[in-house]
Amino acid sequence: MRISHTLTVLASLSAGVSVSAAAARPNIVLVLTDDQDTHMNSLDHMPLVQKHLMRQGTTFTKHYCTVAICCPSRVNLWTGQMAHNTNVTDVIPPFGGYPKFVSEGYNDNHLALWMQESGYNTYYSGKLFNHHTVDNYADPPVRGFTGSNFVLDPSTYQYWNFTTSHNGGAPQNFLGKYSPDFTAARAYEFLDEGLAAVDEKPFFLVAAPIAPHAQVVLYPTMEAGPPAVAERHRDLFNDYQIPRTPNFNPEEASGVSWILRQPRLNDTVIEYNDEYQRQRLRSLQSVDEMVGEMISRLDAAGQLGNTYFIYTTDNGYHISQHRLHPGKECSFETDINVPMVIRGPGVPQDFVKDAVVSSHTDVAPTVMKLAGNPPRPDFDGRAMAVHDAVNSGPEHVGTEFWGYAIPEGKYGYSGKYGFIDGPAEAHPNNTYKGLRLECADYSLYYAVWCTHERQLYNMRTDPWQMDNLLANNKEKSKGSLPAATLLGRDLETVIDRLDALVLVMKSCKGAACTEPWRRIHPKGDVHSLKDALAPRFDVFYKKQPKVSFTSCELGYFPEVEGPMDYHVFSGGALDRIREQLPLVDPNWGLWT
Ligand SMILES: *[C@@H]1O[C@H](CO)[C@@H](O)[C@H](O)[C@H]1NC(C)=O
Ligand SMILES: *[C@@H]1O[C@H](CO)[C@@H](O)[C@H](O)[C@H]1NC(C)=O
Ligand SMILES: *[C@@H]1O[C@H](CO)[C@@H](O)[C@H](O)[C@H]1NC(C)=O
Ligand SMILES: *[C@@H]1O[C@H](CO)[C@@H](O)[C@H](O)[C@H]1NC(C)=O
Repeated sequence: MRISHTLTVLASLSAGVSVSAAAARPNIVLVLTDDQDTHMNSLDHMPLVQKHLMRQGTTFTKHYCTVAICCPSRVNLWTGQMAHNTNVTDVIPPFGGYPKFVSEGYNDNHLALWMQESGYNTYYSGKLFNHHTVDNYADPPVRGFTGSNFVLDPSTYQYWNFTTSHNGGAPQNFLGKYSPDFTAARAYEFLDEGLAAVDEKPFFLVAAPIAPHAQVVLYPTMEAGPPAVAERHRDLFNDYQIPRTPNFNPEEASGVSWILRQPRLNDTVIEYNDEYQRQRLRSLQSVDEMVGEMISRLDAAGQLGNTYFIYTTDNGYHISQHRLHPGKECSFETDINVPMVIRGPGVPQDFVKDAVVSSHTDVAPTVMKLAGNPPRPDFDGRAMAVHDAVNSGPEHVGTEFWGYAIPEGKYGYSGKYGFIDGPAEAHPNNTYKGLRLECADYSLYYAVWCTHERQLYNMRTDPWQMDNLLANNKEKSKGSLPAATLLGRDLETVIDRLDALVLVMKSCKGAACTEPWRRIHPKGDVHSLKDALAPRFDVFYKKQPKVSFTSCELGYFPEVEGPMDYHVFSGGALDRIREQLPLVDPNWGLWT
């Protein structure tokens, strides 16, 4: 299929028919849900996504968001830059929200705009960012869209009474309409508009329904409960329960200190949480129907074979895992590993890539490449290999977070809210840098927190993240790390490498984010953790500066985020001199 598509393009080019060459550029549809999980198997409950996308395309099971909260993650998606480079790190000012997107210059520099400039019609229906409001929607207007219908704050997360701005017009309130259905209806209008003009221009259409995000009502009292659902979906999934995986409300907790302090959930809360997830699945049925309807319309217009369809979400979600109330923002797999399915010309069908890592930083580069556009020099990601049926590739993703973890749901959230201090129940000190590594030889998660707590999970033997190999109690009781080994090396040796990789990733820009090992080993002889584990680098890595923080902040202040520079391996005199120097104590004192 890929070959025939290429041939079509070549044929029309050589015939000098520029109009049909333009028309042969593929359309791209991106469906972006809000807070959708993979770990409670939400995709299993979306029959049309399965039928039209998963069976007709490729599912990337190791796809990650790099910052597990809506607005920063969406800015990551629309820019191809990591949050430490966009500095949009929160959902509201001063560190995030639509005003921060604008003040950082991204309203003039984002994916839809680049697509538009490259000759695409661009459309958006649904939620764009948090703090995109009835007051600031025109100040300035969002650039880059041929047609748009934005759901606006403060009623973004009210399923049955919301406000939108259509093509930049004055906000209109819709009481008694169902938000995901409304977003779908507007998306169909844009789709039809794009299809009608497809002979002149291809289109890039984003549909971003709020499902399955919590329903948040701000007035008169603030509530954050399960999503409301459409009447026709009310009775579905009555027998569903959240999978009782080993990390479900566990007897023994695992995680950093604020998570360890969480009491076990009682039966009342567990029952509430199961129903909470049922409501999420029901709300997703509107999205599933939307996917089916879009596919039908593309098919009827003869454009299905020339359209890439990408399905994903902004960040993941946990409910009851690790004893947590509904929410996101955590470094656990539940929160960072997200659905990613792509179908389109030349994309392998019914294929699962489970040993290739990709992240939301790669989405803008991928869309640009599918459109035949060159990559941008400021991309921190790379185009995903969507056309090959090879189940190997990049092995690392860097994750990051700043600020609070905010529990949702009736039992997690009381409605006491101070915008300075966060909700009464918000957990501070949730600032961390993480690293997810996945390949045939290992599967690891490593993170360093602003409190100097650290986490290391062997995801191959402990996919539920129940056994933090660096837990304080273990260090204290044994006086050293557990005797575990990885690739025949002891854990300390492995962590020296992982820490160095986080050190590069936490301030990386451009190619440093996709080829971090090359920054440390410019000769290009080290491309993976496995390569870096060679014994000849042991002293070199032991003496690398360690990732650390001097305080926990709510935003990105590099001055409190420890060393930024790392030693570069030259294999020469400098390395030998460094080897002679005494070892500097890292913060956690493990090597003293
Ligand atoms: C990030 O944004 C915050 C809020 O505007 C600002 O105080 C901080 O200095 C910025 N950080 C960087 C690295 O620009
Ligand atoms: C619906 O939303 C509007 C605008 O936010 C608000 O003024 C109105 O009171 C709401 N109506 C109901 C029934 O909630
Ligand atoms: C269960 O836990 C919730 C939240 O802590 C609490 O409000 C409720 O009273 C508890 N219910 C029972 C029966 O203990
Ligand atoms: C947050 O971390 C600081 C140290 O950076 C500590 O003093 C404070 O007690 C912590 N707060 C909570 C609620 O854990």
